Amino acid sequence: MATIIGGLTTSHVPAIGGAIVRGVQQEPYWKPFFDGFLPVHQWLGEVKPDVAVVFYNDHGLNFFLDKMPTFSVGAAAEYRNADEGWGIPTLPPFKGQPDLSWHLIEHLVDSEFDITTCQEMLVDHAFTLPLKLFWPQGCPVTTVPICINTVQFPLPSAKRCYALGRAVGEAIRSWDSDKRVVVVGTGGLSHQLDGERAGFINKPFDLKFMDSLVEDPQWATQFSIHELVEKTGTQGVELLMWLATRAAVGGRVRKVHTNYHIPISNTAAGMMALEAL
Ligand code: DHB
Ligand code: FE
Repeated sequence: MATIIGGLTTSHVPAIGGAIVRGVQQEPYWKPFFDGFLPVHQWLGEVKPDVAVVFYNDHGLNFFLDKMPTFSVGAAAEYRNADEGWGIPTLPPFKGQPDLSWHLIEHLVDSEFDITTCQEMLVDHAFTLPLKLFWPQGCPVTTVPICINTVQFPLPSAKRCYALGRAVGEAIRSWDSDKRVVVVGTGGLSHQLDGERAGFINKPFDLKFMDSLVEDPQWATQFSIHELVEKTGTQGVELLMWLATRAAVGGRVRKVHTNYHIPISNTAAGMMALEAL
């Protein structure tokens, strides 16, 4: 059966793509952000995952407001990126892992999650940039994208996203394969891009949330979506991907490395690498 080696979580600001293209990772604005990934590169070199199951939220590239599934799972042989209008170059396609996709889809539907299955799926900055940050030399893993709606209300609750993550973890562990799987979650931490509270950041909450993922992973499920928006901003609710990731990893974890830096663009940029024990 497949093994889950751990979880990786990071923010996914489009400006990161521009910084990579310009090669400015060591400039003072960017250094504290990019340096946070160095110990994780070393860890990934040691644990060598084969597959990444990636929880992320699409921002209008694949799903627009006319059709917005709450939960969707990719089942394609490859996932293409496309121009989202941020001015960042598109990246080459990412390889899929269709046998795991279908196993996941069957397990999720059996577990009463009414997901949308996508045999074609464009992936946006929330999928492409984190993979580039974790594997800057090129993506050596195959991928399964899982998209959670955080852009159009109503959003799924933290409790529901945790349950989804747990079911994804069960599915991976029951996949008849000797592959090593890492679960990735992208988004957050606190940020609000529009409205009266544009620029809102909540460092104490972010740090408490990051701590909770190590020892008390269900802590954030006590909050309603509206409470999470209040505490983290309208886009801060992307932290749901971190929660689903941690639930998928399950059990106890070792903190490999974490980083937290304010701001990258309008966002409190967090990163965690957790090894499954
Ligand atoms: C920014 C953050 C995001 O999560 C996103 O999807 C787009 C932009 C930002 O801070 O610029
Ligand atoms: Fe986002």
